[in-house]
Amino acid sequence: MRSQALTLHDFALLDDDDCEARIIAAKQQLGRRCIILGHHYQRDEVFRHADVTGDSLKLSREAARSEAEYIVFCGVHFMAEVADILSRPEQTVILPDLAAGCSMADMATLVNVERCWRELSEVMDTDLQVTPVTYINSAADLKAFCGRHNGIVCTSSNAGTILEWSFARREKVLFFPDQHLGRNTGYRMGIPLDEMVVWDFDKPLGGLSEEEIRRAKIILWKGFCSVHQMFRPQQIDDFLARYPETRVIAHPEAPFEVCEKADYVGSTETILKTVREAEPNTRWLVATELNLVNRLREECKSQGKNVHFMSPTVCMCSTMFRTDPQHVAWILENLVENKVVNRIMVPEDEAGFARLALNNMLNV
Ligand code: 13P
Ligand code: SF4
Repeated sequence: MRSQALTLHDFALLDDDDCEARIIAAKQQLGRRCIILGHHYQRDEVFRHADVTGDSLKLSREAARSEAEYIVFCGVHFMAEVADILSRPEQTVILPDLAAGCSMADMATLVNVERCWRELSEVMDTDLQVTPVTYINSAADLKAFCGRHNGIVCTSSNAGTILEWSFARREKVLFFPDQHLGRNTGYRMGIPLDEMVVWDFDKPLGGLSEEEIRRAKIILWKGFCSVHQMFRPQQIDDFLARYPETRVIAHPEAPFEVCEKADYVGSTETILKTVREAEPNTRWLVATELNLVNRLREECKSQGKNVHFMSPTVCMCSTMFRTDPQHVAWILENLVENKVVNRIMVPEDEAGFARLALNNMLNV
C-alpha cells in the first residue's frame, strides 16, 4: 500500500476528502479487529466514522464489553485511559492525537489532591468521614487515589446516584475536579448551597476555615470546564424574551445559575435523547458544546424543531477538536500495517486501583 511510507506530517497535508476515503478503506480492511468510539463533541468529519457514539458513561461501558483488538478512541485523553483500564490486556487503546486532553481534568493533580486530603485529615478523620469522588474527567492517578481511599468515579449521567452511594457510606464527599457538576448535583439532592464549599487548591486549607470544612457536606474542587463556563443565565433571559415557548436544556458542567434556569439538565446523551424524543415543532435552547448542538439542529429540522446554541460566542472544545480526519487516517493505516501508534497505556499499579473506583461506579 502506498500509504506505508507516509508520516503524520504527510497526512497533515492531505485534504479531508482524501482522508475520508483512506479512513473508509482502512476500516474495511481492519473489519471487526478495530472499533472506533466517538464522543458527541467530535467534529462531523470524525464523528461519522465512529462505530459507537455516546457520552462518557456509555463509551466506558462500550470499551469494557468490546471484543475488538484495537479500540480507537475519538475523544480526549482521560476517556482513552478509562478504555485501557477497563479493556482486556490483549486489547490496544489508541488516541489519534496525544495532545487531545481536557483542561478541566488538568485542574486537579495528584499532588494537589493528596495535599488536600492531608490537610483535611488535620481537621477530621478523612478515612471514616469523607468519600473521594472523582468525575470521570480526571487523570488515571486520581481515579487510583479514589480506589485506594474507598472512593468512586462518576460521570455527568450518574453523579446523583454516585453521591447517594457515597453518602450511604460516609457523611462527607470530596468532589473533584468539576465544582459545577458537584454543586448542581448536590443541590438537586437537597443539599443547601452553604453546605457545599469550594476548595481552592492554591491556598492553605483550601482557603477555608476549619469550621467551614466541618459544616460542609460536599467539598468541591475549584475546577471548571472552559467551554461550559461560557454559558450565562442572562443568555437564557434574553432568548426567552424573544421566544417564550423555548425549553432550555443544559449540561451539568454549566454554572449553577444556568442549570437553575434550565428545564432539563443532563449528560450529552441525555440532551440528545430529550430533544430527539420531544414533540415536533418545539424550540430548544441548548447549553453544551457546539459540534453536538449543530448536528442536533440539522437532525431535528425535518421534525420542525428549532435547536439553538445558548451562547452568542462560539464555544467549542478545542481539545476534542484536535482529533481530525488526518490523525484518524494516519493511525488506521498504521494499524492495517500492524503498527500501533499513539497507544494509551496506564501502568498496572495505577490501573488496578483506578479499576476499583471505576468498577464501584459501573456496579452501582
Ligand atoms: P458527557 O459524559 O456528558 O458526554 O460529558 C463529557 C464531557 O467532557 C463534557 O464536557
Ligand atoms: Fe474537558 Fe470541557 Fe472539553 Fe469536556 S468540554 S473534554 S470537560 S474541556
